Amino acid sequence: MVGNLGGYNNNINWVQGRRFWILADNRNFIYNKDMRAETIEMLCNPYAGEPLRLDGQFLVGVSSGQRFAIRDGIPSFVPRGVGLSRRSRFWQWFYDRSAGIYDEVMDLGDRLRYTSEQTVRREYISRMAINPGDKLLETACGTGSNFEHLPADGLYYGLDISWNMLRRAQRNLEKRGSRVELLHADGQQIPLRDGSFDHVLHMGGLQFYGDPFLGVREMARVVKPGGRVVILDEAAAAYRIFKRSPAHARHAPTKAAAVGELGRLAPHGAQDVRCGMVAGTHFFELTFRRPE
Ligand SMILES: C[S@@+](CC[C@H](N)C(=O)[O-])C[C@H]1O[C@@H](n2cnc3c(N)ncnc32)[C@H](O)[C@@H]1O
Repeated sequence: MVGNLGGYNNNINWVQGRRFWILADNRNFIYNKDMRAETIEMLCNPYAGEPLRLDGQFLVGVSSGQRFAIRDGIPSFVPRGVGLSRRSRFWQWFYDRSAGIYDEVMDLGDRLRYTSEQTVRREYISRMAINPGDKLLETACGTGSNFEHLPADGLYYGLDISWNMLRRAQRNLEKRGSRVELLHADGQQIPLRDGSFDHVLHMGGLQFYGDPFLGVREMARVVKPGGRVVILDEAAAAYRIFKRSPAHARHAPTKAAAVGELGRLAPHGAQDVRCGMVAGTHFFELTFRRPE
């Protein structure tokens, strides 16, 4: 097939199929040249921890030779269902099917005051202290709605288990002219090296993880010493997270109690741990710093 190595543009290429000519928009053929060179250095094999090297449209483990395809400019570490727990496979399937209507449903929920995502983005995310050039990873970034609320001069990365949510994110970001590196991966096995980010942000996905505690440990692993992890979700999600954890369920018999106990999710040694409700919303915040 013919592709355009120069990245996004609206030129049209004629591509020869087996039986007929098809018209292809170059946006469907964004190759790895679109990735920042330093991103490849930050990535690692999530299963073996080894560095990866670029080989055409694949990232290849330097020792194992394991190959991860880059499709549409997005490296994929979890092709549909492969290597995932049953729970993760279900939510991958669910969000792959919901991606087409996700933004619209969320907008409606906000207008009906059923959720308060837009308020959290406006009142909380847009006020996060991000310095020019800071690197921020959002785990479970969905359709990428949070990035537009962050300052334009940060370096942003988004990870999600759902390919279709990421593709929608890609289209949303393109419309806004925002540059974000997207990764198709499980938040419980982040394909990035230790200490790569100044900030890790997470909003609304932890309750879907098979092991939310592991998800938070992974966030703490990839943030730099002194860097901050910020986790936001609905209070009901805090309750559901603890209810599924035999070791912690008894500490969180109600939603309010669960929010007060969220510090239990922070890994041992985490500093400056804060948890509570975000005023005027249905959301909690859990934030902590990795020790220097
Ligand atoms: C409610 S949406 C939130 C999306 C986004 N953070 C936002 O604020 O709009 C939950 C997201 O979590 C993702 N997700 C669920 N389990 C995941 C996992 N194990 N690893 C990474 N992403 C996951 C889903 O695919 C979905 O995009």
